[in-house]
Formats: sequence, structure tokens, C-alpha cells
Amino acid sequence: MKIVSDASELAAFQGCAFVPTMGALHEGHLSLIREAKKTGRPVIVSIFVNPEQFAPEEDLDKYPRNLEEDCAFAAQVGADVVFAPSVTTMYPAAPESIALPKAAIEPHLEDACRPTHFRGVCVAVARLFDLVQPAITVFGLKDYQQFLVIKQLIAQEKDRWGDLQIVGAEIIRDDDGVAMSSRNVYLSTDQRKQALGLHKAVRCTTEKAMLEVLDQHSLDVEYAVLRSSDSLLAPVAGQTMRALVAARLGHIRLIDNAEIQA
Ligand code: PAF
Repeated sequence: MKIVSDASELAAFQGCAFVPTMGALHEGHLSLIREAKKTGRPVIVSIFVNPEQFAPEEDLDKYPRNLEEDCAFAAQVGADVVFAPSVTTMYPAAPESIALPKAAIEPHLEDACRPTHFRGVCVAVARLFDLVQPAITVFGLKDYQQFLVIKQLIAQEKDRWGDLQIVGAEIIRDDDGVAMSSRNVYLSTDQRKQALGLHKAVRCTTEKAMLEVLDQHSLDVEYAVLRSSDSLLAPVAGQTMRALVAARLGHIRLIDNAEIQA
């Protein structure tokens, strides 16, 4: 497996399957790489802790980083290249100056809680797509709204990335049901028990029941909603629904979601 930081070395891999990450790889990320492998294309994994998607009060400085260990994990599951660009490679011009298509997804849920987050994500992902030129990209459904936002960005920028396909990979959970997340390393033993509340909440079929479960686990709820899976707007009879939650345990913010079988 190659480890590259210079984007010119990626030219040979155009048309690859691409897994963008911020590192701190866990089983959830490895499942994305396995999904990318299934395409039979070379697999590039990017590792870039993107400052643009963290608000000033968030955990950018504390965010776990271990490039050596990440590369070993990526190699184990068959990645061909780890692309670990510098901030200058990612943002040769000021990121604030980068234009993006107007997102059609209403500002709500994650956007309402973290108003600058998706702009930061899209700026990084758009730059990565420009540099990597993949044919397929794999995103985890754990960040469900992010998946929809990127799907939409790709649809809006057809001329830029051609027929780029996006694949959504299922959420990977620990044995206790907690969705895997790089931020789980921050949880104490007691907080880990509280975090179970998110998993239980997304199995509920009413918002009232979701809130009750979250309350029983003493979680500080940001949102707990049932929404249409396609638009994240109010559910429509006959369409698939998704339960989505975001909650805080002290300084730690966790999210989870699941499809609801009506
Ligand atoms: O999901 C993530 O890890 C990040 O938001 C992403 C897509 C790598 C962009 O920085």
C-alpha cells in the first residue's frame, strides 16, 4: 500500500473507489474500505482532519490522530493508497473563498446545531474529489445527513465529477449496540452506558418514545426526530422513514440513526 501526500501521485488511480475519512480509523471505517474493495477498483482512503468542519468551540485540537496506526488498518483491509494531504494541499486558496452550489437540503437537524459544519465538509470533500477523481465514493450512513448532502453535491456538480457514484454503507455497531465513532474514545465507562440510549432511541417508532428513552439515559438531547429518509423533511405516508438523534454527554456530542420499518 502506498502512502502519499502529494496529489500528483494520484493520477494513476483515476476512476478508483474512494473513502474519505478524518482518520482515527475503527471497524466502521474498515467496513467502508471493504465496501470500496467490492467494486474491484483500486481503493484510495484519504486521511485529513478537516479544520473547516469544526466550529471554534469544537474538538479539532483533541481529535484523535494516529497516521501510522491508521495506515496499518487501511492496509489490512486492502486499501491501495492512503492519501494524507497537508492543509496547504487541500486549501491552496482560503477555504472561505471556495464557492459551492446552493444546497437544496433545508438547514435543519445537524445544520441547525452546527451551522458551519456542512459547508466545511463540502469544501473538503469537493477538493478531495477534484484531486482524487474517483468513479465511486463510499460514505457511512452513520452520518446520514452528511450522506444526503454529499449525494446532492455530486448531483449538482455532474459536469465536474462526471458519473461519480455514491454508496452508503450500513452503520457498524459495537456488541452493546453503540454505533462506532471516532469520538467514542472520549467516553468514560458511565458515559458509555448512557450512550446506549441513542441506539435504543433510534429503534423507537414515535418521537415521544425516543425522547423518553433519551431522558432515561440522562442525555442532553439536541434533536430526536422521525423524518422521511429521502428529504429529512416531515415523514410522508408510504415513504421510508428514518429516526435520527443527536445528544450530548458533557462535551461529547454523539449522533445515531436507523431506518424505521413502518
Ligand atoms: O465523515 C467524515 O469523516 C468527514 O466529514 C469527511 C467526509 C471525511 C470530510 O472531512
